[in-house]
Amino acid sequence: MTLYNFNELLPVARQRHFKAIGSFNLHCLEMLPAFFKAARLTDSPLMIQISTGTAEYLGYRLLVDAVRSLAQSEGVPTCLHLDHCSDIAAIQTAIEAGFSSVMYDGSHLEMAENIANTRRVIDLARQHNVSVEAELGAIGGAEDGKAVAEEDICFTTVEDARRFVDETGVDMLAVSVGTVHGLYTGKAHIQHQRLAEITAATRTPLVLHGGTGVSDEDMRRAVAGGIEKVNVGTEMNVQWVDRCKRTFEQGKVNDSVRKFLIPANDAVTQVLTEKINLFK
Ligand code: 13P
Repeated sequence: MTLYNFNELLPVARQRHFKAIGSFNLHCLEMLPAFFKAARLTDSPLMIQISTGTAEYLGYRLLVDAVRSLAQSEGVPTCLHLDHCSDIAAIQTAIEAGFSSVMYDGSHLEMAENIANTRRVIDLARQHNVSVEAELGAIGGAEDGKAVAEEDICFTTVEDARRFVDETGVDMLAVSVGTVHGLYTGKAHIQHQRLAEITAATRTPLVLHGGTGVSDEDMRRAVAGGIEKVNVGTEMNVQWVDRCKRTFEQGKVNDSVRKFLIPANDAVTQVLTEKINLFK
């Protein structure tokens, strides 16, 4: 089975009565079958996203081969997406390896430069049937070691979003509307009115980053209000490490390592299953 890009995956999600697609960060290869198990349990297509740190750790080609192989054997329509990347050479590496979707993150740049670079990435991606996500505004918190402090959070404006989409023709736009990357110290305050206005002005799939720690109620409202891709990363990492700490602590050195990892993978399946069920 070939991998789906985001534009091809969205109609599959719609057919199965999902309003949005969850895009889940894979932190290590061991977790991968747990992602597919959740997709099967929920009868959902699957979007797996990879930070550049994880891509370098595991290798772009290994990721493509492993994801393709499981998509085929499990019969799950799957998109493999490169998460936050501001290095166009790394994006090219991902595309050449067989990723079916990429994110160019030029949110730290002036608008004109972000637009110009996003267009370069789109030109490259279109030759390989790869979808492109870009970002406008600054989302708080830390992602793959890069942090945006609270005072530097910058919400996406309706005017900027409209101009950006008109001038780039990007497939998905990540917006800063109140979520942060990583673990919350309080409740997320999603600006639903801003989201509704950006949705009306752009008519382009919008992406909610920082899905960890968003309440179920807020998540459902955001999805009803125009979000069509929801990123969740930290939550799987936290659950996996937490279970591993407990099982490794209790185990003996000659126990099969498999015994320690099964509960961690089950916890990951549970996170995905719960999130995916919010997107209907
Ligand atoms: P969380 O780690 O906060 O879930 O965010 C993930 C994300 O947005 C990746 O781009």
